[in-house]
Amino acid sequence: MANLVASCRSFRRFDEGRRVPEGFLLELVDMARLCANGANRQLLRFRVVSDPAACDAVFAELAWAGYFKDWAGPAVRERPTGYVVIAAERGAAGKSAAPIAEVDCGIAAQTMMLAARSATPSYAGCMLRAFTPRLIDVLGLDVERYELKLVCAFGLPAEEVRLEPLSASPDGSIKYWRDDAGVHHVPKRSLEDVLI
Ligand SMILES: Cc1cc2nc3c(=O)[nH]c(=O)nc-3n(C[C@H](O)[C@H](O)[C@H](O)COP(=O)(O)O)c2cc1C
Repeated sequence: MANLVASCRSFRRFDEGRRVPEGFLLELVDMARLCANGANRQLLRFRVVSDPAACDAVFAELAWAGYFKDWAGPAVRERPTGYVVIAAERGAAGKSAAPIAEVDCGIAAQTMMLAARSATPSYAGCMLRAFTPRLIDVLGLDVERYELKLVCAFGLPAEEVRLEPLSASPDGSIKYWRDDAGVHHVPKRSLEDVLI
């Protein structure tokens, strides 16, 4: 399990020539619907996107790697080939979804990320919260009924992502960086640093 978690990084470049099958994305949702969630209210709803034109439409509403100011995100041929968009059902009369749905969403998303990474072939993905308010319309979802929470992008990874100790960070910060060879490095705090 430790190896799986370590390999389950955020990947942002994929082999667009080898698409994630829609059936596989549905399997991920089938696992996510079984996850722990507040009071078992099961507020989350999932939209699977795998058609290439629909993927392009979702992609256009996303923002990638906020720390990379001069990278516009994955180029054509390295974009995700499938998405699971997580929404929460709103309360009565269009009230905001219950706050606990945020927690539920994280649990569902990480479950799908781990399942994708442990599959054969080993897919990978990235959770994205930076999406435009237009995305809900692009998906044709009723804004009165749903609140978009998170986009989970998936594909066959086409980049290397390495965990690093925080001390390896060039500027000593928590910001991920990419080296000249295109390897993405993710600095993490040590066990000692996170224990309180
Ligand atoms: C709730 C959440 C929202 C995120 N939103 C974005 C996003 O909008 N765009 C993006 O490129 N990455 C996004 N990420 C990925 C984080 O940047 C990534 O998890 C972090 O840099 C650590 O890298 P790691 O996942 O490989 O450990 C998000 C991650 C989480 C958990």
